[in-house]
Amino acid sequence: MEYLIKQYALEPGAWEIQYIEEYFGEFPRRKTADEIITRLRDRESLILMAEAPLPDDPTGALVPVSYKIVHEIRSDESVPKLRDLVSRLHGSVRFDDRRILYSWIGGTRRDWRGQGHFRALTEESEVWAMGAGFEEVVVKVKNRYYDMRAVLASLQFNVVKHEPHPKDTNESKIYLSKLLPAEIARGHRSIRTVVYAE
Ligand SMILES: CC(C)(COP(=O)(O)OP(=O)(O)OC[C@H]1O[C@@H](n2cnc3c(N)ncnc32)[C@H](O)[C@@H]1OP(=O)(O)O)[C@@H](O)C(=O)NCCC(=O)NCCS
Repeated sequence: MEYLIKQYALEPGAWEIQYIEEYFGEFPRRKTADEIITRLRDRESLILMAEAPLPDDPTGALVPVSYKIVHEIRSDESVPKLRDLVSRLHGSVRFDDRRILYSWIGGTRRDWRGQGHFRALTEESEVWAMGAGFEEVVVKVKNRYYDMRAVLASLQFNVVKHEPHPKDTNESKIYLSKLLPAEIARGHRSIRTVVYAE
């Protein structure tokens, strides 16, 4: 299978993601276009979306089925949430003179899960990240998101920190990372076509 990926500029990408997030039931608080724009406005980032045909649609029209946003994080963050993230990563991820990427949000619409769309987006983001000089990509996940943890394991992310919740182990957080050496693309499995969204 060949995956069709669209790379979006910030504003159209943010609105498209606000729209697609309506189709995810997992997270209690969905991201709005405004939140996405505010976070990404002054930092390097990548917005990717995979498109696929609706099943049984004779016109073969394509719809967005999976998305992913990654963005840079720096040791001198001023945004409170990111400053907090960087401080929690202290001792687990080195920031000195290294470019670190944060895998922020992503998901695949239920009917299209398990078809490799998220792998394709992740692999494409890794190619972009290596080209942009990033050395490591980090992601955080709550203990109770077992599916996401399994996906991150399949994508070869390594656990770098476990942060227990004082009362509820389901709410404990796991931080994972992946080093991005040049040879990583050789291990990629998806065949992809990337276009730039208008
Ligand atoms: C997690 C999620 C994004 C996966 O998307 P997807 O398009 O179904 O993932 P893919 O089909 O590309 O699968 C990627 C890898 O994870 C594995 N995988 C996917 N879903 C899995 C599951 N529920 N349990 C175990 N492994 C799973 C696949 O087998 C694949 O590995 P492989 O290529 O070695 O076979 C999707 O299930 C989702 O949207 N979940 C809710 C939101 C979420 O958790 N977002 C955060 C993502 S980090």
